Amino acid sequence: MHKNIAVIILAAGKGERMKSSLPKVMHNICGQPMLAYVLSLTRTLKPKKTVIVLGHQYEAIQNKLPAEITAVRQRKLLGTADAVREALFKLKGFKGTVLVLYADTPLLKKESVDKLLEYHTENKLDATLLTARMNKPKGYGRIVRDKYSSISAIVEEKDADDFEKEIKEINTGIICFNKSSLEAALKKVRPDNRKKEYYLTDTIKILYKNGKLVDGVKINDIHEAIGVNSRLELARANLVMQQRINEKFMRSGVTIADTYSTFISYGTRIGRDTLIYPFTVIERDVRIGKRCFIGPFAHLREGTRVADDVTVGNFTETTRARIGAKTLIKHFSYIGDAAVGARVNIGAGTVTANFDGRSKHTTVIKDRALIGSDTVLVAPVKVGRGALTGAGSVIIKNIPDNKKAVGVPARILKGKR
Ligand code: UD1
Ligand code: MG
Repeated sequence: MHKNIAVIILAAGKGERMKSSLPKVMHNICGQPMLAYVLSLTRTLKPKKTVIVLGHQYEAIQNKLPAEITAVRQRKLLGTADAVREALFKLKGFKGTVLVLYADTPLLKKESVDKLLEYHTENKLDATLLTARMNKPKGYGRIVRDKYSSISAIVEEKDADDFEKEIKEINTGIICFNKSSLEAALKKVRPDNRKKEYYLTDTIKILYKNGKLVDGVKINDIHEAIGVNSRLELARANLVMQQRINEKFMRSGVTIADTYSTFISYGTRIGRDTLIYPFTVIERDVRIGKRCFIGPFAHLREGTRVADDVTVGNFTETTRARIGAKTLIKHFSYIGDAAVGARVNIGAGTVTANFDGRSKHTTVIKDRALIGSDTVLVAPVKVGRGALTGAGSVIIKNIPDNKKAVGVPARILKGKR
């Protein structure tokens, strides 16, 4: 493992190009904020220290960070070099490799960072860049190489001349530095560019001119380099992440009938031999068991727990719901704030009316109950084990085990079910 590294995460940018009141790094990709991806990648690297630079909506983000991460505030967004300078104040006692990660690059993989760090340490370099070849490099900083093909500078798109714009090798933004080389170079960075900002990328030219050792490692999967600056790039990054998630499930034994219309959040758990039909949306914090049938057109929302051998069929929405084994919810239903037992049959059009205008209430449906089509369960309410509701009934009272209830509002009938 990498022994002596500290990570600096840059996340202070306003994200002008997002045209949003939400800070850029808090926009979601597959159900979690962009920032969460870089944080989990950082955790796997086991750095000595992690410093994140925040600016826009500092408090809101800082409150959500894990305790081991130090946050610094960049008051004026003077550029990426200025942001790194701020972070270095929190790394006073540290000596070693400083890895800079951009929080707007959520698709970056651990393997690529490992490769970068290894190359950097083995060759005792002053700075090592992660680069990528792109056919359409628009918007990215270009890697300039000298006649010996050594990296001599990074030129930002805005400052590039026509010749430099043709360069296909780009800066992903991920750079690792020897700490003292970084500090020395930062002192010489000037805001002499179109944006009048202090560019971290200028340190490369400075190091090169001072005879320091700079090199790059190329990544093969250019998707990893996608920097999210606009909603278009957000959508592109989302698509790539979604395919990664879906492919991971398929490799682990889940059938996904159409991966392009199946939206599964990061962190979802799904058991083997479950089959997911098209146009299904699975939001964050959902678990699904083995051998289930989900969709088409199913919407499983936060806090849904589906046991084994369950069917959640078309036009069904679930939220904060536990569904027991072998239960069938086959057609257009809403099951929210509910605990549904095993082997329950929920008829078409069943609705748990969980909200009374002020607060949410729970519906409990015990094992083997039979809920007739078009039943409305007005929560809080309980349907007993083996009980039955008639088609179109509105349930406002608890139904004892093995009883039958019909009507609007439903009356409980005499005798057994
Ligand atoms: C940057 C790189 C560019 C690279 C691209 C890759 C610079 C100058 N340019 O451009 O070479 O190809 O990323 O995606 O670094 N930030 C701060 N404080 C600031 C400014 C930015 O913390 O004052 C943060 C942003 O939140 C973001 C990151 O730094 O996470 C990069 O800034 P951004 O404005 O997105 O730079 P790009 O134009 O994408
Ligand atoms: Mg960017």
